[in-house]
Amino acid sequence: MRAKLVVVGSLAAATIGAACGSSDDAPPPSASDGQKLYADTCALCHGARGEGYAADQATALASPTFLATASDEFLRRSIARGRPGTTMSAWGRARGGPYDDVQVRSLVAFIRGWQTAPTIPVGSAAAPGDPAKGAPIYAARCASCHGATGNEGPNVRLGNAELLAVATDDFLRVAIAQGRPGTKMPAFTDIAEADQGHLVALLRSWAKPVSEEEIAIPGTLGPIVQNPTGPDPAFTPGARYTPVDVVKRELDRGAAIGFLDARAPSDYVAGHIAGAADVPFYAARDYLFALPKDKWLICYCACPHAESGRLMDTLTANGFTKVTVLDEGVNVWAERGYPMRKGPSP
Ligand code: HEC
Ligand code: HEC
Repeated sequence: MRAKLVVVGSLAAATIGAACGSSDDAPPPSASDGQKLYADTCALCHGARGEGYAADQATALASPTFLATASDEFLRRSIARGRPGTTMSAWGRARGGPYDDVQVRSLVAFIRGWQTAPTIPVGSAAAPGDPAKGAPIYAARCASCHGATGNEGPNVRLGNAELLAVATDDFLRVAIAQGRPGTKMPAFTDIAEADQGHLVALLRSWAKPVSEEEIAIPGTLGPIVQNPTGPDPAFTPGARYTPVDVVKRELDRGAAIGFLDARAPSDYVAGHIAGAADVPFYAARDYLFALPKDKWLICYCACPHAESGRLMDTLTANGFTKVTVLDEGVNVWAERGYPMRKGPSP
């Protein structure tokens, strides 16, 4: 008989935070603490030096025009609340992430150290714009990278409510006019100021509010293995990556498989593979005791390999041998119409 394993995910996250100091006499934010946190949880996507694009479409945080216009509050809130609907998770405690406020501010202090260009004030009052006049310009010049309605990607989701909550109109206009040198974002020096205003008005018209469900915190790790009495799946031994169709076929055949969601809890709640356990890659050591070594475990994320690859490496370093990474990631699993679930339960 197998006891149902239940672990409070947020407790595990709290342990991580406590280990880094979050009591009443917590130390002030420090760039050197931020550097360590960055190496642990951000570099795998944003690159060791903030150059961006180490995984997925994670932006260049060290970009001179970005840091000249992004205030500390912009950075703090972007990190704490993430960008729901993208692979940028919420890293703050209030949204189920691992970091308390001091740690988030330490990350901001570290990232601020990359700023090379003088700060450009972006606080002035909004210039009025007309979304209808922005639409044809957007379709012709922006949609290929930012998606038809600013939410489809592949690059920064300009219609994301969290981005639009932190970005002033001037922040957006300077980004359009000066671009992000060193990335694919060009400087649109030929777009007149009035048209920039129309584009900004269009972006604002697309903001989708964040649903309450997306800010719940996962409660339990769950039973982990599906079909626990079934045979082992026919995975290629030693293969780091296993395609989604192979995994689904083996699951349908009744093979014993456990899915481990390597992303931060906010992403798990927004949508995970049905039956998956939430095992954030940065907290994996706290969950090892609860994971079976005799059954196949599939690590997945959306990026589609960076976080799941880290989780797999932690497991194999700790003696797990039946581990693989879901090759195409959870987004392709969902696109295929394979079972997904929303909310905090497996
Ligand atoms: C799984 C990959 C991934 C990880 C890990 C990750 N990010 Fe991100 N991050 C992204 C992506 C992708 C975006 C852009 C989201 C979009 O499409 O709008 C982003 C956006 C951001 C932004 C906003 C940038 C802008 O131009 O508006 C900041 C700031 C940021 N991330 C900081 C961090 C920090 C700090 C960490 C570590 C605590 C982190 N990220 C971890 C993928 C990641
Ligand atoms: C060739 C692809 C491409 C095109 C075309 C493009 N962008 Fe971008 N855009 C990007 C990339 C990539 C980034 C992120 C750069 C980075 O890593 O810092 C970005 C960033 C931005 C940002 C800053 C977002 C942030 O959070 O920092 C804004 C605003 C923006 N683009 C608006 C536009 C608008 C408006 C247009 C059309 C006039 C446009 N872009 C056309 C690729 C593109």
